Amino acid sequence: MPKTLSTESGAPVADNQNSASAGEYGPLLVQDQHLLEKLARFNRERIPERVVHARGSGAYGYFEVTDEVSQYTRAAFLSRVGKRTELFLRFSTVAGALGASDAVRDPRGFAVKFYTEQGNYDLVGNNTPVFFIKDPLKFPDFIHSQKRDPYTGIQEPDNVWDFWAHSPASTHQITWLFGDRGIPASYRHMNGFGSHTYQWVNAEGRAHWVKYHFKTNQGVRSLDAEQAAQTAGGDADSHQRDLHQAIERGVFPSWTLYVQLMPVEDAADYRFNPFDLTKVWPHADYPLVKVGRLVLNRNPENVFAEVEQAAFSPNNFVPGIGPSPDKMLQGRLFAYADAQRYRLGVNHTQLPVNAPRAAEAANYGQDGYAALNPNGRNKNYEPNSYGGPAQTDEPLHAPQPLTGHTGTYTTPAHSKDDDFFQAGELYRLMTEDEKSRLIANLAGSLAQVGRDDVVEKNLAHFHAADPDYGSRLAAAVAELRSAQED
Ligand code: HEM
Repeated sequence: MPKTLSTESGAPVADNQNSASAGEYGPLLVQDQHLLEKLARFNRERIPERVVHARGSGAYGYFEVTDEVSQYTRAAFLSRVGKRTELFLRFSTVAGALGASDAVRDPRGFAVKFYTEQGNYDLVGNNTPVFFIKDPLKFPDFIHSQKRDPYTGIQEPDNVWDFWAHSPASTHQITWLFGDRGIPASYRHMNGFGSHTYQWVNAEGRAHWVKYHFKTNQGVRSLDAEQAAQTAGGDADSHQRDLHQAIERGVFPSWTLYVQLMPVEDAADYRFNPFDLTKVWPHADYPLVKVGRLVLNRNPENVFAEVEQAAFSPNNFVPGIGPSPDKMLQGRLFAYADAQRYRLGVNHTQLPVNAPRAAEAANYGQDGYAALNPNGRNKNYEPNSYGGPAQTDEPLHAPQPLTGHTGTYTTPAHSKDDDFFQAGELYRLMTEDEKSRLIANLAGSLAQVGRDDVVEKNLAHFHAADPDYGSRLAAAVAELRSAQED
């Protein structure tokens, strides 16, 4: 027997096909609670989409420690080989709105929520080891330039490249994005990175700066520009379909986690600012150290409840893992939970996908929209005489020395800190074929820019990265632009 269809208050529904009317022809009756409730609820199905990374896919799985790292961090979920921790991972594209196609040239989000016994740890990364900018003050301008123009209502290559023309530090990430890995074939076939520098602290209080690398065990596979255009046009949901169906088939995707570890004393004299998000740490300086395996093995039951309402914040740390001074990271520590209080409401932390699972949230927060108030009748102030939750007095991270004066600064001076050398190194690492595809992809986009000064400024950046890179791109752009004039 199926369940009885009911209203939201649980009363039985007599007719779900015909509205109640005054006579056979109508009009309809305001007393038809089921009709009013059904239409009103439907009107309220949409919530604000994420301001960036709106389009995404999620799955549950686990992380298993395979190599001893407790000498570097006292995070409990990394404490011993063999330890497993449940997790939720959301992949995403960045610029597209909720219904946008998956197969586009765009960085991919790689956001992991580890449900640890010390609370949830969120590592909110991308599939790129670097980013376009190094100060959070520039983020809203950057995103505006990549999304739709307020007048034309379309994404304008002029805006995209105008922003980059004024942001030389983006040359490294642009080289990455327009290279072969710029359009992953699927979420399963790409790597993930924490991108920022974070802090690990062990039980003795000794700290390291750390960078995270998730290497796909499916192998890296990408689409070229033509394959991507075909895929995006034919199947807007190609990444979602691939991930969902793989997990349904029992083909569970996995990644191996490695970290790079820098002793904190190295940072001050390193040849470039190790907290600069536009740069990678060469593996020759800080080799990869294996940590464990991340496996996705369960699809969410309900995409809206679990994927759309998932909320990740780079500020959700656990003891033994903390932030670095990276200014971009510092800005993000504020931005996410603030966005989620607007997008989902102040009690989004109580939703099942976001609430701690292996730990318990025990604090004195209360009320607000849609509050479950899990603390019930307990005292709602602290300290109290009733045995309520109390602080640990154990520092969460290692203290860091400070230098200098308050002010607004560009990059702090290190011996080799220009904005272009790593873009040049990436270019020189490429094979001849890879270089040709990179130049063709870049020229295809840059040649659409109307303003000569914007094109020239950008070409100067690529030239500064490597003269061969700059001159080949200049020639390719000139050729495309003259073909457009014919
Ligand atoms: C999503 C801000 C840089 C990765 C978001 C959201 C905001 C935001 C407001 C939406 C959050 C939500 O509604 O749940 C910023 C700011 C940045 C920045 C202000 C720079 C200062 C970055 C960087 C990365 C990154 C550098 C990667 C290394 C992500 C990911 C998501 C996201 C993966 C989607 C998370 C999800 O799946 O729910 N960002 N972001 N962002 N951001 Fe950033």
